[in-house]
Amino acid sequence: MEVVIAPADELAVLAAAAIDALLRRKPEAVIGLATGSSPLKVYDELARRHAEEGLSFAQARGFMLDEYVGLPPEHPERYRNVIEREIASRVAWAPDRVQGPDGLAADLPAACAAYEAAIDAAGGVDLQLLGIGTDGHIAFNEPGSSLASRTRIKTLTKQTREDNARFFDGDVEQVPRHCLTQGLGTIMAARHLVLLATGKQKAEAVHQLVEGPISAMWPGTIMQMHPHATVLVDDAAASRLQLGGYYRQTFASKPAWQGL
Ligand code: GLP
Repeated sequence: MEVVIAPADELAVLAAAAIDALLRRKPEAVIGLATGSSPLKVYDELARRHAEEGLSFAQARGFMLDEYVGLPPEHPERYRNVIEREIASRVAWAPDRVQGPDGLAADLPAACAAYEAAIDAAGGVDLQLLGIGTDGHIAFNEPGSSLASRTRIKTLTKQTREDNARFFDGDVEQVPRHCLTQGLGTIMAARHLVLLATGKQKAEAVHQLVEGPISAMWPGTIMQMHPHATVLVDDAAASRLQLGGYYRQTFASKPAWQGL
């Protein structure tokens, strides 16, 4: 696991540069898309590179991490709409090349199985963007999630619903109780994991993710088992890391050709 500690704007450029390099090497790459506030600066930088530097998503595929159950198709916080607004429409990514789990399906388990099959059929995810919840969830894999789980329905914790109420007029009652989420096993199958976390409220989750024991109580800790995981954090999110000095020194002395 590589830990990079830098200001948020620099982290976003690093993540966008990794996606840029991937798409130029493999135009048909499969990108794993995250919602939440953490990846927004990355999407801004990708949109800039699309507009100014010819970065193309035309042949790429996108798969979202998760989706709320039951939000109507036009709801602005439906994750498929968030992804359309924040990234897909800004980089001319054809709607049929970006998919999420279908939170409006009549048969939700069948929709989850179909989603796993679609990721497989696309050849698997090359680079998966991730954020992390204050309780250590990645995607919507709440504490207690099976470390080997696949896409399925989950019940959101009170804390996650409270954290996400800011997207629903501050009203926790408007936040759905259920979601469909890629499992931890699904996420672990991606070839490169890139997690972004900023702000003091993420410091304990980041400490556990990087330095804690692997445990379903902190679901993101499974990333310690991934052969290519990159954790991009600002000073505040890094403030509880025991080996913060070592991570800073390692990145500062990293050869430029190495990339993420
Ligand atoms: C949300 C999403 C996650 C996201 C996390 C953190 O509930 N389902 O994919 O990573 O919680 O969100 P934020 O980046 O807004 O802090």
